[in-house]
Amino acid sequence: MTEWKKICLLTDIPVLGSRCVARAQGLDVAVFRNDQDGVFALLDRCPHKGGPLSQGMVFGTSVACPLHNWTIDLAGGCAKAPDEGCTPRFAVKVQAGEVFLDAAELATHATDLTRPAAGPRSPALSGLSPAPLGEG
Ligand code: FES
Repeated sequence: MTEWKKICLLTDIPVLGSRCVARAQGLDVAVFRNDQDGVFALLDRCPHKGGPLSQGMVFGTSVACPLHNWTIDLAGGCAKAPDEGCTPRFAVKVQAGEVFLDAAELATHATDLTRPAAGPRSPALSGLSPAPLGEG
């Protein structure tokens, strides 16, 4: 049986916006609200290059990633064609104006995914030695 964890009131989530739920392990979960009071929950990580979907623009049942404008379906978590890839979604329910997430999913679902680091790749991380000064 599903144990539901109360997250917030529906009115705590801005219309056409989102709210982040921090977890003990793993990236935050982004809880979105559209203009029909539909509520959706996705890992706050774009399937393209890890952009924070919680900072994207919600429209209809989609969110536009703030980094490169991919459109992600809020119900399924997948990018709309021609783009490809999905971000994990989370079960959510709204009851009497309160928003709940599945407690077990929050604790265990997609805790292994991280946000890619931006910027140039560090030689230490790539296994390459930096070129000595004065060469090249
Ligand atoms: S990281 Fe989201 S579209 Fe590129």
